[in-house]
Order: sequence, then structure tokens, then C-alpha cells
Amino acid sequence: MKIGILSFRSSNNHASKEEIRIKKEAKLAGHTSRIFRASRFQMVYDQHSPWLLYDGKPFPKYDVVITRPSVLKNVDLHVALIEQMELMGVPLFNDYHSILKTKNKIKTMQILDHAAIPIPKTVVIRRPEDIKQAVKSLGGFPVIVKHPVGSFGSGVIIVESMRGLQSYLLWDKPMYLLQEYVKYSKGKDIRIFVINGQVVGSMMRSAKKGEFRSNIELGGKGSVVDITPEEANIALRSVQALDLKYGGVDVMRSKAGPVVLEVNSNPGFKELEGVSDSNIAGALVEYAVEYAERRTQVNGGSLNGV
Ligand SMILES: Nc1ncnc2c1ncn2[C@@H]1O[C@H](COP(=O)(O)OP(=O)(O)O)[C@@H](O)[C@H]1O
Ligand SMILES: [Mg+2]
Repeated sequence: MKIGILSFRSSNNHASKEEIRIKKEAKLAGHTSRIFRASRFQMVYDQHSPWLLYDGKPFPKYDVVITRPSVLKNVDLHVALIEQMELMGVPLFNDYHSILKTKNKIKTMQILDHAAIPIPKTVVIRRPEDIKQAVKSLGGFPVIVKHPVGSFGSGVIIVESMRGLQSYLLWDKPMYLLQEYVKYSKGKDIRIFVINGQVVGSMMRSAKKGEFRSNIELGGKGSVVDITPEEANIALRSVQALDLKYGGVDVMRSKAGPVVLEVNSNPGFKELEGVSDSNIAGALVEYAVEYAERRTQVNGGSLNGV
């Protein structure tokens, strides 16, 4: 099989540890793989030329492409490349629809709540007059404010007082997402990695001293954890609700039971593979092969039968 890895890292950055791990596992399983950099593609629309050029040449045929959309800005512009591949019938996952759902935390909360998946109480406000009522309904201070688009903990802020909140909200954005602070978990949350409807790995993440966010990029540390059937269940349902083929679900243990904070469509797994003995890259490659084979059967090998 020929497995493509679509990387959105900027061209002057090296491939990520995750991308290299996927390549290594693909090789071990006897497949060829290649990392494609999003920035080197051209999309051409003239009814004649190939639609996609890579480094100036027609994009070669690949059996399956694993997308790694590590983008934080202009998400809808970036995912146009993934959509283009889908229009051309390239078998790939995660697809652009599911990525868009996870890149916006308001959209994610909307979908998870609609699917009756427990989340921390969340209120989205659009005018200063509603601050007081929102804070009250979230159980008072501290409250969490989240930028709808953000990752690695940047854009997740804890606010301790009304004075702080009023001075932080500048009303230069159309809306703000306020969320109940889940105290019970004391800076710990669980990352659950799901591929194809199965939990393939999980770890506890603990925030570094003085920090409430447990992101590894902010100094959080992973450790082994046994997740409960309920935690596995809400992680699986979250990934399914967002139509992801693979995803990383952040779950917190609250007094009322587990709640989902967010779902990542290009989760890292370096720390997870380090603290547990799960082979996430291997599982991704295995699923990619299965996915490509299924697509070939359905389409009779045709590249255009989306
Ligand atoms: N409602 C909350 N209560 C307590 N801690 C939270 C809450 N929401 C987020 N956090 C902490 O902040 C971290 C980052 O939040 P998250 O929503 O996962 O955004 P990001 O996309 O930046 O990872 C979480 O892993 C968790 O440690
Ligand atoms: Mg997170």
C-alpha cells in the first residue's frame, strides 16, 4: 500500500514525531509512505489540468491519506486542500467535515451536547449585559473562558473575579464561550485515543505546579490510568458524534461523573506512547490499510467513485 501523510506543519519545520512514527510503522508493516506538506500543493481549476499539483507535478496516486491538520488559524481555508482530495476521490481520514467540527469549540460543544454527551456547563454570550447571569448559572467564580479556536492550552483562561472577567472580555469578538470550572479534577484530565470505534490508548495528564491546564505542551505530564467503562463509552460516542475516524478525547472526572472537554482531530501521541505500551502509530497504519481496502472494494478500484 501507498500511505500518504498530509502534514500542515510549515515547510521550515521538521516533520513531527507523530508523522515520523507513522512512517516507521508503515515501513515495518511493509508499506510505502510519504509525508506531503500542505504548503507545497497547488489547486488548479481549469477543467483540463490535474486539480492538484505537488511540488509542481501532478499529485501521485496514493491508496490512502492520513490527514494531520495542525492548523489554528484560517481553518476553513486550510481544509480546502483536504476537501479537494475528497472531491478527487482520494481515500482519506479524518475528512474535512469532521475536522471543521472539532476545530471550533462552540461547534463541538453544540454537537456533543446534542448527542447527550456530558460536558462541563457552557454558556456562549454575545453582550456584556449577560455576563452576570452566565457566571451565576455556571456556579460562580472561577470560570473558564475559551477561544473557540485554540489548541495546546493557549486560549483557555481561568478568571477568578467579575472585575477580571469584565476587563478581559473586550467585545471585539462576536461571542465568548464561558465554561464551568471543573474543580474536582485538580488540574488532571484524561486523554483517550480512539481509532475506528475503539479505545487504543489512554493516559492521565497532570498539570505542572501552579498551572490548571494539563496540556503536555504546557509542561503537563502523562501517567498510566485505568479508564472506566463510562469514560470509554463517552469518548467513543464523542468521536462518533463528530464523525471522526480517529480522535483524541479530553475527559475530566467531575463530581457528577466524567465530562468531555474537547475532541482533537489530529491528536499528538508521543507522550501517550511513552507512558503506556500502546502502539498508536501502528494502530493508525493498520486502520489506514483496512480503510483503503474497504474503499477499493466499494468503488471497484475506481478513483472517482466518492
Ligand atoms: N472547564 C474546565 N475546568 C477545568 N479545567 C479545564 C476546563 N476546560 C479546560 N481545562 C483545562 O485546560 C486544558 C485545555 O483545555 P481544552 O479545552 O482541552 O483546550 P485545548 O484545545 O487548548 O487543549 C484541559 O486539558 C484542562 O486541563
Ligand atoms: Mg485539549
